[in-house]
Amino acid sequence: MPVIIRKLKEDDVKTLAMIEQESFSRPWSEEDFKELLFLDYARYLVAELDGEVVGSAGMRVVCGEGDIDNVVVSKKHRGKGIAKELVSELVRLGEAEGIKEFTLEVRVGNAAAIHVYETCGFKGEGVRPSFYEAPTEDALIMWRRD
Ligand SMILES: CC(C)(COP(=O)(O)OP(=O)(O)OC[C@H]1O[C@@H](n2cnc3c(N)ncnc32)[C@H](O)[C@@H]1OP(=O)(O)O)[C@@H](O)C(=O)NCCC(=O)NCCS
Repeated sequence: MPVIIRKLKEDDVKTLAMIEQESFSRPWSEEDFKELLFLDYARYLVAELDGEVVGSAGMRVVCGEGDIDNVVVSKKHRGKGIAKELVSELVRLGEAEGIKEFTLEVRVGNAAAIHVYETCGFKGEGVRPSFYEAPTEDALIMWRRD
């Protein structure tokens, strides 16, 4: 069954909030996702597998740059290339609207996520010390530039 990547809809928020709970120490709530539906600078995508929402990734377009955040895939479906598809699609959408630079932050110890971003053309350009809480950890700042 192929993965379908599509825009976030209101019906998705309950499942996404559950995926957040199992994935992050500071998970987004259903309300956090609902707010995104009304932001004209936000592009949020979900991955659907066999009719089930299994992940999401988002981008905010700020000053002509694409700021990618909240890349997450449910534990059950990790390692199937879903995050790569989500991030690649965000980049494709951004490029289609003329965006040439994309950025994101990731925990320095999150090797799986860093690997996904590198595969999608991102490179580490700096470290922001103690950027994350629970637990405290440095952030690697990554960029994808044309
Ligand atoms: C990070 C995350 C989104 C990746 O999702 P995914 O759908 O499993 O990712 P993909 O299947 O597209 O790719 C995973 C890649 O990481 C690799 N990988 C997995 N664990 C790894 C590790 N410990 N070190 C290095 N690479 C690793 C896999 O081999 C795979 O690469 P490959 O296809 O070249 O073999 C998922 O693990 C997740 O939701 N984690 C919790 C939330 C999170 O940390 N999000 C990122 C916030 S910045």
